[in-house]
Amino acid sequence: MADDASQPDGRRPDPQAVDLSTADLPAVVRGAARRLADAGVASPRVDAELLAAHVLAVAVGSLRSALLTGSLVLDDAQRHRLDDLVARRARREPLQHLTGTAAFRHLELAVGPGVFVPRPETEVVAQVAIDAARAVQERAGGGVPRVVDLCTGSGAIALSVATEVPGALTWAVELDEAAHGWASRNLRAHPGARLTLVRGDARTALRELDGTLDVVVSNPPYVPGDAVPVDPEVARHDPPVALYGLGEDGLEVPRGIVAAAVRLLRPGGVFVMEHAEVQGAAVRDLLTGDGCWEDVRTRSDLTGRERMVVAARSATPAPSAPASAPPTVVPLVKDSAP
Ligand SMILES: C[S@@+](CC[C@H](N)C(=O)[O-])C[C@H]1O[C@@H](n2cnc3c(N)ncnc32)[C@H](O)[C@@H]1O
Repeated sequence: MADDASQPDGRRPDPQAVDLSTADLPAVVRGAARRLADAGVASPRVDAELLAAHVLAVAVGSLRSALLTGSLVLDDAQRHRLDDLVARRARREPLQHLTGTAAFRHLELAVGPGVFVPRPETEVVAQVAIDAARAVQERAGGGVPRVVDLCTGSGAIALSVATEVPGALTWAVELDEAAHGWASRNLRAHPGARLTLVRGDARTALRELDGTLDVVVSNPPYVPGDAVPVDPEVARHDPPVALYGLGEDGLEVPRGIVAAAVRLLRPGGVFVMEHAEVQGAAVRDLLTGDGCWEDVRTRSDLTGRERMVVAARSATPAPSAPASAPPTVVPLVKDSAP
């Protein structure tokens, strides 16, 4: 770490800065990890390694071998860049905003300010949608699965389905302009995906597909307005429109997503929607009473927490749209056609 000497302007050096005087990569990474631990970052060593790997433009596995073999050194520019990134991470900017990418299943998604950073628990939600889409392909005579991801954000779930179930026809809907821009960018990185990205309100979008979809999947905003997230990375950097589900219980948008799934799915179609750990019973209640759903179940994520509802659309016709259906906030703009 930095030595104790004052700088030429008389200021004391920041004792936590990345040691800019050494090319010793292990020492630099150790110092960065200490600094991140002091700032309350949950996984300081991993974050320090990922930032160093990012600056050196190598995979984190190569960085870890280099830490043992000494095969990589940081030049001056790289040390300054790492110092800047570690300082920003210590101020609790999300790691993924600093590296510009988020890993989701087998995808590397472009992310940054204005879009929700996809989370590992949502990978399980995507898996349920993928399994349901594959089941359509595998049924007698085979079929082309038709899947929509409502509230797509970076496009994480929709792109996972489109790339892991080749041949599936997929749609993705996003309301927010900035998030839609990130999804569009991620879609462009997968030109082979049969994915149509739509900007609009998921509660009212894609009426032309009513009754034709095999799978509706969604990770909508569901945080109640008075439950401000504790982690600064979330509270300060995830867009409010991605977090807060509106209404006292945070379930106003999810209620609209359930209503959209009722009209979009064919009888027997599968619905999967993420929710907060404490919302299992309340979300199951949204799917009972009108006869539109069968086999309503709450499922857990990989850590055993109840995090999603899964249900099958019954043959009961969708109720006609209420006169006060939420308005489409922006015109629908199709970005790409399958
Ligand atoms: C929790 S984030 C999930 C993003 C992505 N599905 C994921 O899992 O990473 C919710 C997303 O829904 C979008 N959103 C909020 N209200 C919406 C609405 N009424 N219609 C469409 N998208 C909406 C937000 O902008 C945000 O991108």
